[in-house]
Amino acid sequence: MERWVGKIAVVTGAAGGIGLSLARALSENGMIVVGLDKKKQEMLDEIKNLGIGKGKFYALSCDVSDEDSVTEAFGWIKKNLGVVQVLLNNAGCMVLGGFADTTPEIWRNILDVNLMGSIHCATTAIKMMREANLEGHVINMNSIAGHRIYLHKNLYYNIYGVTKHGITGFTETLQRELMGQNIRVTSISPGIVRTGIMGTGEDMSTLNVPILEPKDIADSVIYILGTPQRVQIVELTIRPLGEDAS
Ligand SMILES: NC(=O)c1ccc[n+]([C@@H]2O[C@H](COP(=O)([O-])OP(=O)(O)OC[C@H]3O[C@@H](n4cnc5c(N)ncnc54)[C@H](OP(=O)(O)O)[C@@H]3O)[C@@H](O)[C@H]2O)c1
Repeated sequence: MERWVGKIAVVTGAAGGIGLSLARALSENGMIVVGLDKKKQEMLDEIKNLGIGKGKFYALSCDVSDEDSVTEAFGWIKKNLGVVQVLLNNAGCMVLGGFADTTPEIWRNILDVNLMGSIHCATTAIKMMREANLEGHVINMNSIAGHRIYLHKNLYYNIYGVTKHGITGFTETLQRELMGQNIRVTSISPGIVRTGIMGTGEDMSTLNVPILEPKDIADSVIYILGTPQRVQIVELTIRPLGEDAS
């Protein structure tokens, strides 16, 4: 990670769960981390509790589903800090329920956050990396659900798996488009991680199945980033031991 010390990393959805753990790990490894989330104060409070390590942490209010909000946030970073070289497209959401029990408004929001938000952030960051002719890395937080649809105890998640399949396609498309350039693109596909993404007020541990911790994902990101620039980890699948994803 030595070559990334003092370089700028953006982590979307950094106010909690996996994103918070990622922000902590990157700043601990000396990066200048900018967290983008709708909840700026919560982000600041959480990261303060964890401690920043030897890097720096900035919190910006940003709704990744809003193109103008993304443009504004990246514009602020460029003007005040410099070129983004690492992007963790992590912000995501789900609403439990089958398609018949949810609404187009719900599906559109999940699509806008999980897929369009990742595309907006990646293209904005890639333009900056290219203009500055600097090496870069885009990491898309995918999911096992981005490769196959499986259901835990009849917990239906409607369009979520569709958006994550979109992330698989987006990652592969970017890898092809950026071939020959100095920008790496990686998809990380975790199984169940202990966070509050189900939005039921309870975390994933209520499912009573094998479960990963956010730190497990953050550790893998440090490994991925730490490989030499000639190495592109295109896809990393991480399941808790014993997970039944059949
Ligand atoms: N937990 C798992 O089992 C699991 C497994 C595989 C993949 N993932 C993926 O991992 C990523 C992180 O999820 P997580 O489990 O850590 O969930 P989480 O704890 O709910 O964290 C997601 C973060 O993204 C934020 N966010 C949501 N919409 C946003 C928007 N429009 N703009 C900016 N930030 C927004 C959330 O804010 P609010 O809380 O205000 O919405 C929250 O802080 C997601 O892409 C998810 O799909 C999770």
